Amino acid sequence: MLDHRVPVLPPIIGRQSETESLHACLEAGRHVLLEGPVGVGKTALAAAICRTLGRGFVRVDGDGRYTEARLVGTFDPPAVLASGYRPEHFLAGPLVRAMREGAVLFVNELNRMPEGVQNVLLPAMDEGRVVVPQLGEVTASAGFTVIATQNPAEFVATAALSEALLDRFELVRLDYQSEAEEIAIVVQDARCAPSLAVVAQAVALTRATRTDPRFRRGASVRAAIAISDIAARLHDDVARAATLALPTRVELMDPTGTALGEVLADLKKKLAATRPT
Ligand SMILES: Nc1ncnc2c1ncn2[C@@H]1O[C@H](COP(=O)(O)OP(=O)(O)O)[C@@H](O)[C@H]1O
Ligand SMILES: [Mg+2]
Repeated sequence: MLDHRVPVLPPIIGRQSETESLHACLEAGRHVLLEGPVGVGKTALAAAICRTLGRGFVRVDGDGRYTEARLVGTFDPPAVLASGYRPEHFLAGPLVRAMREGAVLFVNELNRMPEGVQNVLLPAMDEGRVVVPQLGEVTASAGFTVIATQNPAEFVATAALSEALLDRFELVRLDYQSEAEEIAIVVQDARCAPSLAVVAQAVALTRATRTDPRFRRGASVRAAIAISDIAARLHDDVARAATLALPTRVELMDPTGTALGEVLADLKKKLAATRPT
């Protein structure tokens, strides 16, 4: 199985302190909750550290309909009909795979998963075991660790993790990075070789959506990557690229007020006035 091997990854820019913390927790055999807004680099950091440590990385993306059976695994129905519940008919889910292989189970947005799924994780994290009906007990190989993520902004829409589950995690928080680091990330991730001037404008505009009071929710560096790439294809027209990349990624305080396009044009004018490019 190759799907959980971490592919070649671009290097992590900055994040020395967070890398050190995550590294220490993993080496100490602790499970980690990575908390931070969308696009802040949670997945990138976890994957990069697993690669550095030579750990397998089994990724699970949660949503409200994710089931315990999907996480643990299920028996192949035709095979069971033909010859009963044999261990070889069990199709291991990500949890059992990670446990057997002593890998890191990366659970994205754990707080959005149903309580039943969260409860299955408890004994696996605590005692390194899970009991699967018709299969028996699965015990974890050395190295099995859970890294879960949660987005603090989501607490309004979803229940936070249970106290019992939180008690099993150490917390590593990721906040937005500095402007210089975000520029370096965009340069590294952009595919269309945008000019440095374009990248700088895209990053400044994106950062402004996080601080300008007209926005309820601002955009992450992922938006700056998109703006830079699109602008590079649109004669460096950053404002136009932003009207394509930002509507899906920001939320205005007053959606019935000034249109997003106008707010962005105004922001861009203000930014141009403070820093000539
Ligand atoms: N510190 C960093 N170094 C290099 N790339 C980064 C860094 N932070 C974020 N990225 C890049 O930004 C994008 C969003 O990061 P991602 O890990 O997917 O965020 P999250 O999982 O928090 O939503 C990805 O393309 C990722 O490679
Ligand atoms: Mg992610």
